Amino acid sequence: MMVASTVRYQAFGVRTCTRTLRYNRRTAAAAAATQTGETKKVALVTGGSGGIGASTVRNLVEKNYTVVIAARSKTKATSAADQVRESVPDADVRIADLDLASFASVRACADNILDEYERLDVVCNNAGIMALPSRELSVDGCEMQMQVNHLGHFVLMEKLYPLLKATADASGEPARIVNVSSVAHNFASTSFPVTDVNLAEPGAYGALGWTAYGNSKLANILFTKELHRRLRKAGVSNVLVNAVHPGVVDSELPRNLSINFYPLLRILGQLITNDEGARGQTRLCLGSAPFETVSGAYIAEMASQGKKGEHELFDSSAQSNDLGLQRAFWDESCRLTGSKWNVLEASTQTEQQLSEMNV
Ligand SMILES: NC(=O)c1ccc[n+]([C@@H]2O[C@H](COP(=O)([O-])OP(=O)(O)OC[C@H]3O[C@@H](n4cnc5c(N)ncnc54)[C@H](OP(=O)(O)O)[C@@H]3O)[C@@H](O)[C@H]2O)c1
Repeated sequence: MMVASTVRYQAFGVRTCTRTLRYNRRTAAAAAATQTGETKKVALVTGGSGGIGASTVRNLVEKNYTVVIAARSKTKATSAADQVRESVPDADVRIADLDLASFASVRACADNILDEYERLDVVCNNAGIMALPSRELSVDGCEMQMQVNHLGHFVLMEKLYPLLKATADASGEPARIVNVSSVAHNFASTSFPVTDVNLAEPGAYGALGWTAYGNSKLANILFTKELHRRLRKAGVSNVLVNAVHPGVVDSELPRNLSINFYPLLRILGQLITNDEGARGQTRLCLGSAPFETVSGAYIAEMASQGKKGEHELFDSSAQSNDLGLQRAFWDESCRLTGSKWNVLEASTQTEQQLSEMNV
């Protein structure tokens, strides 16, 4: 109860004036939430309505987390929640509307979370789409894979960060952000187009949508590493952020492929199950050994090393480790989304100190 009250106080303190207008409604929701056991840890999983995300939701519920499935289809989310309740009868699993293809929807989702939840310990940015055969734009005018896979999550995290930080401060345990990337980040353009993230230049989208998917998955790692660096620069060590490649998983992800090679991979025994794929991100969400304190890292499923279904620390591409690219892409993500991330402006570490910390 003490932790929840402190989090409510601290989180409220860092919110903008618009939050104040919703204070009464929020206080009522918080009181109701407290009565239903709000002191349990809370995790939010985007795309928790299916595939690897649904397995992640179940894993966290089994560890006694209250889990919010943030999804664009209420029908699918309700069905996923019902399935979790079948295997974990006292599961506290809830639903939030989120369409990452619309920044307005993302901001509304975050506002609802801030209104309704007293604490937030974990966010797993898992939702994704892969290889749309031709270039599509979101309502915000952004290339669709980049928006759903990265930019939408970038906005979501800016909005939810204050509650994550307040929760970590009050509970004395780190809050955790997990960005689900892919080995496909290696498919990104060799000259990652920071000035053409939306791939508007003629021929930039490429054949079958793989370059755009690779760019968006590289974006997940660039974001992870730059956010880690900015957190440290702001003197924040209790919010941890990592990226993961779940493995090549037998999910619904190939639904948009013009040439669907997943059935062949299935026949060849090259696919892992959703449950196996979810292991890595679950361990990052929980901070399980050896990932208790790791941040700014990339872990990957190790089938290529003969360890199918296991996830270990792995070197992501040279591009993803390019400091200049990380910074430039952060700025471009701000420009495209209108996010400012002012919440991280306070800088307590000098460049010299950061360099000594190997950040
Ligand atoms: N499967 C693989 O082989 C593989 C390999 C490497 C990385 N990954 C990554 O793993 C993550 C999970 O993918 P998955 O394999 O579990 O695929 P999946 O079965 O297709 O699940 C994707 C989830 O994202 C949701 N989603 C899609 N567009 C959305 C939007 N605009 N707003 C909100 N939610 C949206 C989907 O909801 P709907 O069902 O309503 O569309 C679904 O819940 C993705 O980030 C993917 O890039 C997967």
